Amino acid sequence: MEDTLTRTKIAAALRALGLAPGAAVFVHSAMSSMGHVAGGAAAVVDALIDVLGPAGTLVVPTFTFIHGRSDNPVFDPAGDPSEMGRITEETRTRAGARRSCHLLHSVAALGVHAEEIAAFHGPSAWAADGPFWKLHDLDAHILLLGVPYLRCTYFHLLEQLVQVRYRSWRNVEARVREQDGSIRPLPTFVYSPGPSFVGNDFNKLGNLLEERGLVRVGNVGNAVARLFRARDAFDLLGAIPTRSAPVPLDKRSLHAAARRHPDRRTQQRKVGPGSGTDLRPAMRIARAPKFAD
Ligand SMILES: CC(C)(COP(=O)(O)OP(=O)(O)OC[C@H]1O[C@@H](n2cnc3c(N)ncnc32)[C@H](O)[C@@H]1OP(=O)(O)O)[C@@H](O)C(=O)NCCC(=O)NCCS
Repeated sequence: MEDTLTRTKIAAALRALGLAPGAAVFVHSAMSSMGHVAGGAAAVVDALIDVLGPAGTLVVPTFTFIHGRSDNPVFDPAGDPSEMGRITEETRTRAGARRSCHLLHSVAALGVHAEEIAAFHGPSAWAADGPFWKLHDLDAHILLLGVPYLRCTYFHLLEQLVQVRYRSWRNVEARVREQDGSIRPLPTFVYSPGPSFVGNDFNKLGNLLEERGLVRVGNVGNAVARLFRARDAFDLLGAIPTRSAPVPLDKRSLHAAARRHPDRRTQQRKVGPGSGTDLRPAMRIARAPKFAD
């Protein structure tokens, strides 16, 4: 069928969008947005890998919000399916995939930086040495494949950086199932919305990025696809007053704030022995299990 998308057509559309070999990319997706894909989610993941090549890294959210509704949550990195769509589950279950260890916000990664991205997550989803800051460090791109900016998890970094009033930290008693089946505590801090939360303004943040020409917009089949650099989002959006980033900071102050934001301090205090200025070693508490070699 002429309208059916194939791995080759998807790869061509992603290249046209600006996705390049060697890139690291964090993908939010909706399979059904593209139209019929021959080979389903596997073809989409193959197309992404074709474009990224051997030096690239594919990262997807494999969030498990179901644990947020449990009184006694146990995260099972090897067994818990991703709740973020079929493409993410396909990525998670590929040979060589690595999954980070977080009760709610784990990610799965394939490719050259997969181990580095997934190796440590930390008690908060936004830990200093965790996957979302790694995206920043690696100058990763974010790809929204048929989903709105509302789904862009990376924007949560900004929320905590400027300490939005509508969220606050809370501890969750959680545990993780290790590869050998044993269960151990999984320190977890959640930056959750309070009563004053009226929804985030992530779509507005996306519009700001587009107004500045920082987003490549195209189509993958029927889907609208958007591609931008995580660092552009960080630098621009933290510097403009919005509901998610009400305290405008210039780029330099933003980076300074990032180094001392509450999440990093919280972890240093609660998790690690770290007393020096380099907090990173103190964050390394949650070793990601290898689940698919
Ligand atoms: C929730 C969400 C995943 C739903 O999208 P979706 O396209 O309906 O679901 P999936 O991506 O799991 O794809 C499955 C659907 O693709 C469609 N599909 C199945 N085979 C297909 C094929 N070969 N070709 C195209 N579409 C196909 C079907 O409609 C299927 O739904 P079904 O399982 O109910 O039959 C999406 O809206 C979303 O929000 N994605 C982003 C998630 C995220 O990253 N969130 C971040 C934190 S908020």
